[in-house]
Amino acid sequence: MKITFIGHGYVGLVTAAVFADFGNKVYVIGHTKEKIDNLKKGISPFYEPGLEELVKKNLKAKRLIFTLDYKPAIPESDVVFIAVGTPTTKMGDADLSTVLDVAEKIGKNLEGYTVVATKSTVPAGANKKVQRILEETKHQGAEVDYASVPEFLREGSAISDTINPDRIVIGTESKRAQEVLVKLHKSINAPLVLTNFETAELIKYAANSFLALKISYANAIAKLSELIHADALKVLEGIGMDKRIGNLFLSPGPGYGGSCFPKDVRALISIAKDNDYAFSLLEEVEIINQQARRDIVRKARGILGDVRGKNIGILGLAFKANTDDMRDAAAIDIISWLQNDGAKITAFDPKAEESAREVLPKITYADEVYSVMDGADLLIILTEWNEFKDINFEEVKKRMKTPNIIDGRNLYDPKILREYGFNYIGVGR
Ligand code: UGA
Repeated sequence: MKITFIGHGYVGLVTAAVFADFGNKVYVIGHTKEKIDNLKKGISPFYEPGLEELVKKNLKAKRLIFTLDYKPAIPESDVVFIAVGTPTTKMGDADLSTVLDVAEKIGKNLEGYTVVATKSTVPAGANKKVQRILEETKHQGAEVDYASVPEFLREGSAISDTINPDRIVIGTESKRAQEVLVKLHKSINAPLVLTNFETAELIKYAANSFLALKISYANAIAKLSELIHADALKVLEGIGMDKRIGNLFLSPGPGYGGSCFPKDVRALISIAKDNDYAFSLLEEVEIINQQARRDIVRKARGILGDVRGKNIGILGLAFKANTDDMRDAAAIDIISWLQNDGAKITAFDPKAEESAREVLPKITYADEVYSVMDGADLLIILTEWNEFKDINFEEVKKRMKTPNIIDGRNLYDPKILREYGFNYIGVGR
């Protein structure tokens, strides 16, 4: 089939590369010349394991075409995916301006029969606007059906998530569009959820918000465990063995971040409010998430007293491991709060330094793990990169001024660290 993706963020670029790898001819339309020029050389605008290799392979096979132009991509395509960003507005709802703008450009270029589907997360109701724009802007003779095909991939494991998803959700009122989209996904072995547009969109928001809720629940249990001297990791392992609960997304830490959970929880609260429903459960999820971030700073003050003038080493800046993404990373809040209190910060992240410099310009960036510890009064772990797991604790202790560790991701065994002579504080234990 011939497909076009508008947008080359995580969702657009990864899904485009995977569909090209299945043998489809795939156009990717962007609006920044420099990024498109780089993509034509196989250079991705962000780090995602395995992605550049997949892009290069499919560029070479001439199945993946990067362009700034809507022609000939749109008129040729059987399916056009809108995969542009929907950031949060000041009011907490999703900003649809880019989605609506590209809908107009798609509409003007439609020829023959085309299915236009959103991969971007848009609230129920947005579909009517996009559909109206497509209908109003298309030429006579062009036929269009509209669908929602939400994406569930995670950064860091985006390619395997796209090839092996837990389900494929297709939301459309049109039988013809449904058939085209089912055919397009035939190479993916996953159960299909065939439904209408609004339901598909709500599945996406409800899934992300539920996962955020699980994380906040884990962070609340961690907090309580600290107060009553229980081991939160055992508690969460114990509840996760119940199949009805499941053991995934129950790791306590510095709170969820990234471009999805914070935005989608806020948007679902806002959608509920617009419909006269106060989704206070999700408001509490956000409050607990903020507390999880603040708790790291509270623990730092607990160890150091006044943090003014103290050297604090930070391992990990990205919002999670295996990505260079700093959007809404817990590290931004935590480091800013510590800096406001006068702490001196030295940090290391294997991939996120470049993006971190934009949001955290006033910290010292170390170029390897151990230099972070030189003369440090405290070491804080904020991202669970594999390369932090097996560090040499003798070396760490030798380099630090005082051997204090706040393990924000519970990477280390408290018993072993205490045997090394560290003052160790994890999350929930
Ligand atoms: C999330 C969803 O997991 C994807 O299914 C969805 O497609 C995506 O959002 C999206 O809407 O585009 P992502 O944000 O890439 O994916 O990463 P996650 O692995 O879900 O992690 C999100 C945040 O939760 C990270 O800050 C992570 O450190 C944190 N987290 C995750 C925890 O604190 N504890 C956990 O147990 C799991």
